[in-house]
This record gives sequence, C-alpha cells and structure tokens, in this order.
Amino acid sequence: MEGEDWIYPEKVKEHFINPRNFLFGDESQFDFDAVGQVGNPICGDQMKMYIQVDKKTDTIKDVRWKTYGCASAIASTSALSELAKGKTLDEALKISAKDIDDYLGNLPKHKFHCSVLGHEALKEAIENYRK
Ligand code: FES
Repeated sequence: MEGEDWIYPEKVKEHFINPRNFLFGDESQFDFDAVGQVGNPICGDQMKMYIQVDKKTDTIKDVRWKTYGCASAIASTSALSELAKGKTLDEALKISAKDIDDYLGNLPKHKFHCSVLGHEALKEAIENYRK
C-alpha cells in the first residue's frame, strides 16, 4: 500500500508471537459449550471460536480459538479473546472490530478485514449456544 508504513504496532507483534487462548491440539483439549466457524470472504481464511459459558450469569468463562488466518487475524483474535472473557454474552456481541483495533494500537488499514474474522466466529458461537 503506497504511503503506509509496512510495520505492525508492537502490541500486534506481541499478540501474534504469543497468542492468548489459542487452542493447541484438538477440540478434546477444551471443554466448550458452543463453537462458531466462519470464513473470510475477502481472503478465504477460516476461524473457529470455542466458548465456555457460565450458565448462571450468562458470561463467557473462557474461550479458545484456532485459525488458518494471517498474523493480523491471529493478533486480532488473541486480543478479542482477552476482551471477551468475563463479559456477558450480550456485552461480548457488542465488541466491535474498532474495539479490537483500538486495543492493539491500530492494524494497517488494508489488514482491518482480518480483525473481523474472530469477531464473526465469536458471534456465531454465541448464536449456536443460544439455539
Ligand atoms: S489475510 Fe486472511 S485473515 Fe488476514
């Protein structure tokens, strides 16, 4: 992209190198209540998000995720997983791509679509939980 620095902010790099709540191994490693899976229409990458829900308080107790996505998707979903924990399902649905972008210190503009992937997978997981 002309005129843009080809540099990720430090926080993006840090979350990419040390992703929070990433699901290592297969799904049996995490006791989840619902899962959401989405694909990114722009690049074709995929994301799965697993949630554990506290049924009494309707809050997200814990999350795990995995993806074929890029560094921006990994960093964004790592950030999202931190933002979502402890929130009610309704609050978690309100986390926006801009919240993730603000938390990370701004993704390059042409990578903004990558931050939507985790968010959409979380939405799907919550919808599946409520079904
Ligand atoms: S390029 Fe596909 S998620 Fe970033």
